[in-house]
Amino acid sequence: MPRHLLTLTDLGRDGLIRILELAERFRTRRGRPGAELPLVGKTVALVFEKPSTRTRVSLEVAVHELGGHPLVLTKSGSQMDRGEPVKDMARVLTRMVHAITFRTGGVERLHEMVTHCTVPVLNALTDQDHPMQLLADLQTVLRVRKRLGGLKFAWVGDGNNMANSWIEAAGVLGLDLVLACPDGYLPAPERVSRACAAGGNVRVVTDPAAATEGAHVISTDVFASMGQEAEQQARLRVFAGYRLTRDLLKRAASDVVVLHCLPAHRGEEIDEEVLEGPHSHVWEQAEDRLHSAKAALVWAMERDG
Ligand code: CP
Ligand code: NVA
Repeated sequence: MPRHLLTLTDLGRDGLIRILELAERFRTRRGRPGAELPLVGKTVALVFEKPSTRTRVSLEVAVHELGGHPLVLTKSGSQMDRGEPVKDMARVLTRMVHAITFRTGGVERLHEMVTHCTVPVLNALTDQDHPMQLLADLQTVLRVRKRLGGLKFAWVGDGNNMANSWIEAAGVLGLDLVLACPDGYLPAPERVSRACAAGGNVRVVTDPAAATEGAHVISTDVFASMGQEAEQQARLRVFAGYRLTRDLLKRAASDVVVLHCLPAHRGEEIDEEVLEGPHSHVWEQAEDRLHSAKAALVWAMERDG
């Protein structure tokens, strides 16, 4: 059975900790002589049905620096644009490449890819999850705060794919997480209950001030995700009170870490002075996408022979 990376829950605590350790090792050793090249002779297909900057660049550079060949397939440059079914693409790719990363919409398309592949598949974002982003987010927090336990994590904004992956991280690692989302945009209660049953302390509120009170880490994301462009104006109204402002940060710990997966919409979900301010770690977070992508690829492919 190939080792897929579809959600953080699939990884489990041991898998997640191992990836975080590997990622930090890749970060500290980057550019030194004697780099490990575990992907020599291997091709990884990086399949994107949605746009990407960070995920594409981090994966492409990661595969290259690990000695492998990154093969990027975007929707417009492939037969995806003409509606070739995922199951057909999967059965072709799996005969030629050694692993596949897939960014798509509905999670059922990711599962269809997995069903028809005999090589590892890594989730590079769906409408429901963004586990590879969380690997970087956790790496950044761990490095800056030296621990993950005993911290109060806050999420402010949409109960979207990023919020879902934070909830999963809280379940897998037993984190204390409060999410502030407007009514109608809350994460699914079953997800929250599952994370709590797994050992996380996850609460959902509607008041951003309550969520950020005493927080050590605050994360946010765009109000309208990819595919929700038609809702942009309506969402701007609903989410008006959910912007990370300097005032909101005053309630948090004095050394609060501000994260954003990017791309950011300044003046919408985050103010320029917060994004570019002393608490922001978003650029290191973006760099950690590279180190954690390497770690995730190695984890998924190490049993691949
Ligand atoms: N954070 C993130 O996944 O960015 P991209 O959409 O640019 O890949
Ligand atoms: N929630 C955002 C994340 C982008 C990295 C989206 O899905 O568009």
